[in-house]
Formats: sequence, C-alpha cells, structure tokens
Amino acid sequence: MIQKKIFLAFVVITTVSLLLHHGGHLESWTMEAFYLGCPSHCSIPSPCLEPKHTHVAFLKTHKTASSTMQNLLFRFAEHNNLTVALPVQSCGHQFCYPRPFTSHFVHPHTLPPSVITNHMRFNRAELRRLMPDDTVYVTILREPGSMFESLFSYYNQVCQSFRRVPNCSLEAFLEEPWRYYRPGEKESMYARNTLTFDLGGDKDHPPEDVGYARAFAAEVERAFALVMIAEHFDESLVLLRHLLSWDLEDVLYLKVNMRTLGSKRSLSPELAAKVRAWNALDARLYDHFNASLWQQIGAMGPACVAREVRLLREAQGRLVRSCFGRRMPLMRSASQITNKDLRPWQPNAKVDIVGYDLPANLSQGTSSQDQENCLKLIMPEVQYTQVLLHSQSLLYRRSYQQRPPQRPQTPKQPTRSVLPRHQQVRPHRSQPPAASPQGPGSGPGSASTSTSTLRPAGGTPARGAKPGQGSSPTQAL
Ligand SMILES: *[C@@H]1O[C@H](CO)[C@@H](O)[C@H](O)[C@H]1NC(C)=O
Ligand SMILES: *[C@@H]1O[C@H](CO)[C@@H](O)[C@H](O)[C@H]1NC(C)=O
Ligand SMILES: *[C@@H]1O[C@H](CO)[C@@H](O)[C@H](O)[C@H]1NC(C)=O
Ligand SMILES: *[C@@H]1O[C@H](CO)[C@@H](O)[C@H](O)[C@H]1NC(C)=O
Repeated sequence: MIQKKIFLAFVVITTVSLLLHHGGHLESWTMEAFYLGCPSHCSIPSPCLEPKHTHVAFLKTHKTASSTMQNLLFRFAEHNNLTVALPVQSCGHQFCYPRPFTSHFVHPHTLPPSVITNHMRFNRAELRRLMPDDTVYVTILREPGSMFESLFSYYNQVCQSFRRVPNCSLEAFLEEPWRYYRPGEKESMYARNTLTFDLGGDKDHPPEDVGYARAFAAEVERAFALVMIAEHFDESLVLLRHLLSWDLEDVLYLKVNMRTLGSKRSLSPELAAKVRAWNALDARLYDHFNASLWQQIGAMGPACVAREVRLLREAQGRLVRSCFGRRMPLMRSASQITNKDLRPWQPNAKVDIVGYDLPANLSQGTSSQDQENCLKLIMPEVQYTQVLLHSQSLLYRRSYQQRPPQRPQTPKQPTRSVLPRHQQVRPHRSQPPAASPQGPGSGPGSASTSTSTLRPAGGTPARGAKPGQGSSPTQAL
C-alpha cells in the first residue's frame, strides 16, 4: 500500500516537473498536435514518453542515401552507449559484401550488438541469430532510374559490366545490356536489380515471373518494420522516429557521401523507362514500398507528418548553425578535402564524391565534446567505422581487465573469433550481462530498461537471467 502511494507521488512529481520543464510550449504544441491528428505520444517538442527502441538493424542498400542513415545511427549508438556490430578487418568496412551476411563477419569486440548498419547482403536468419529478438528492421529504397544512373557512374571502373561499355555511355549500355552484362561475374550486382540483390533476392530471376516479384515484396514486408524511400527521406525519418519512439534530436542529419551536381544527370523519360525495364524486379519493389510509405503517412495524418518535417528541417538548421556558425562546412570534392578524417572514399577519378571540409579554426568557444559531435555529423562512413571499432575495442579490453580473478573456475572458452549469440555473453554497455532476450523485461517496448549501465566487473546476474543462457565467466553459476 505504502509502496503504491510512494509510486503515485513519484508519478505526480515527475509529471509536474515535466510540465514545468516544457513551460509555455507544451500547451500550444499539444493543442496543435491534437488538431493535426498526430499521435499523442512522441509529439514534438515534449520528449517521447515511451522508452526508445535501442535495437535496430538497418539494411544499408547501395546509392540510396543510406550513408546518411548510417551516420545517424552511429551517432545515436554513441550517444546512448549502444554497441554497434562492425565488420572484422578482413571484410573491410562492409560485412564481406557481396557474400550473404553471416555472424562470422562480425568483429568479436562488437558483440553482442544493439545496432547493425554497415553494408551487407541481407540474410534474415543469420541476423536474427545475432541481434536481440525485439530488433526493429529498417531499410531504404530509391527510385530505380536515378539509382541506376548513380550506380553506373559510381561503379563504372569497378564493375566489369560497365567497363565494357564504349565511352562509359549509359545509353549504349541500356541499348543492349546483355552485350555487356554477365550475371555470374564479380560486381555484377551493381549492374542489375541491386536492391533485390542487397535484400537477399535473385537479381536475375526472369522478370516475367510476376509471382516471384510479388512473393519477394511480401517477404521484405514481413522482415522489415519500415522501408524508407530516399526521395521522401524526411517523411521516412518522421515515420522512423515514431516507430522507434525517438526524439526529434535523434534523427537530425547532414547529407553525406554525395556526388557534385556536375557529375549527376537526370534521365530522359525514354532512358528512365529502359532502366526500369532492365531493373524490373527493383522497379516493382520500389513501387510497392513507395505506395506503402504513403499509406503509412496517410494513416499518421499528412498534416502531422508535414509539420514534423518542417520542425525537423528547422532543428537541422539550428544544429548546423550551432556547429559551424556562419562558416558552414564547405562542400568540397574528396581530393580537395584537407582533413583526412573527413575525406570520403572515391570509387574512381571520374566521379566527384563530395564531402565537407572544415575551416581549421572551427567553432572556437564551443566545448571539445560539442566539436566532436559536430565532426561526427559529417564524418564519412569508412572513418566513422574505424573510430567506432577503436572505441569499442578499448571498452572491450577494459572490461576484460576489470573482471575478478574467477576465471580458472570456469572452462576456458576457445578463442574462436565469433560465437553464436549469447553463448559468449560479454559485459555490455547497454544490456545487463546475461539478460536473455527471451527473458522478462526485454519484450518490445521495454528497450530502454536495458540502457542502465551496469559495471562489467559487478558480475551480478541480471534480472531475467536464466542458467545456461548466459554463461559469462564472471558468474559462477
Ligand atoms: C554513457 O556512458 C557514459 C560514460 O560511462 C556516461 O557518462 C553516460 O551517462 C552514458 N550515457 C547514457 C545515455 O547511458
Ligand atoms: C565514342 O566517342 C567518340 C568521340 O566522342 C565518338 O566518335 C565515337 O563514335 C563514340 N563511340 C561510340 C561507340 O559511341
Ligand atoms: C511515390 O508515391 C507518391 C504517392 O503515390 C507519388 O506521388 C510519387 O510520384 C511516387 N514516386 C515515384 C518516384 O514514383
Ligand atoms: C579563422 O581563420 C581564418 C584564416 O585562417 C581567419 O581569417 C579568421 O579570422 C579566423 N577566424 C577566427 C574567428 O579566428
């Protein structure tokens, strides 16, 4: 009884302090949100009242604004002390793409993960073995015409199918694609139905087989809670924010990994039609998920989404100004960028990938933490992946050193590089050690309960730990 009263008093106090904290804003905002039909939880600017989802798998497709999404997820993970699964060094900065993903590609210092986002070829079964059960799966698609044009220019030296084309002419390729394209060849996935391939499908399945395309779209729909659309990136982000119960601050971004305008071109309608015919599976997939995105926007209320998009852009402007003042980060082509932490990877000399460069005397007067956060906002994926691997490896080693000397009692684990999920439970920054994903308190919606930072050396079995499921050496079970 007394406990109940204390709890109620606590609820009242927190509610009142929340109200006070948001002062005058709250009333007008919630009223506006009410009229616009926005869901009552998570309306801006009051913080989301539901716990944030912290288990996210983002399938990074090629040339689809996915680097921007990856950067956003990296920053969210760092901010919330979440472990990001990263590739072993021999895989490069991708999970040994184009081979289908397996957990052997994951660096052992990044286990068990909360977030995964580096390039891979989707393999649902393997990901489900690696990631917690309540993981939210998200991916992004782009309109096939502009996507293919982008692939063609980005990979025209890497991909044999494109290299054979005289004068690097997209027109020539599309005139007779079978003359240049070899289905079984290395890198051929950049030359046909790349989205279907990245999602684990058969890029060379006969396009006449409408049943296949339909079944594949249904499969993607089952696997992913949200399929974003690059052409409607901000609207997609609003849906994502609601899906994950994240705050507006969590989805701010600056575009990374783009080409200069000079190396982009828009396709004539005839050419676009040829691209769609050649990439028929991707075209069906795109149409399906573009329609479903707009259905979801309709369900949430178009006015509500439009308002959030506006607030997102305003907040983005404020963030950029606070980071870079009036001296905006300069758009430069990769070769001109002096800060090597900011130089994006360039596939070849012909495509001009732009990144940001910063004036040497960036934001004097702001704290070094702020400067760091601002730098991360524009850091390209290869460098950011390295930075994250470094910091996670440090934490991993430190947590090993902090373990009490009980280890001789437990059988020594073989030093395999990757063990299946939860056989080797490691102290984790965001999950209680040995908390099984099937255990109580880890169902959907309770993700934030796992953000408590438990010191690795403690070795106290977490609530919900079951013998045999977490065999951490620190627990003499
Ligand atoms: C993340 O970890 C740092 C250092 O251990 C701590 O100061 C910070 O409060 C943690 N943040 C969250 C969101 O848990
Ligand atoms: C390649 O370009 C050159 C010069 O622009 C032109 O003369 C030639 O006909 C082109 N070749 C093809 C196969 O289009
Ligand atoms: C996506 O769907 C919307 C709504 O139906 C439509 O207006 C838009 O043209 C579509 N985009 C593309 C690229 O097909
Ligand atoms: C930053 O450096 C540039 C040139 O190096 C100089 O012209 C400018 O005055 C400096 N800005 C500040 C605020 O010190």
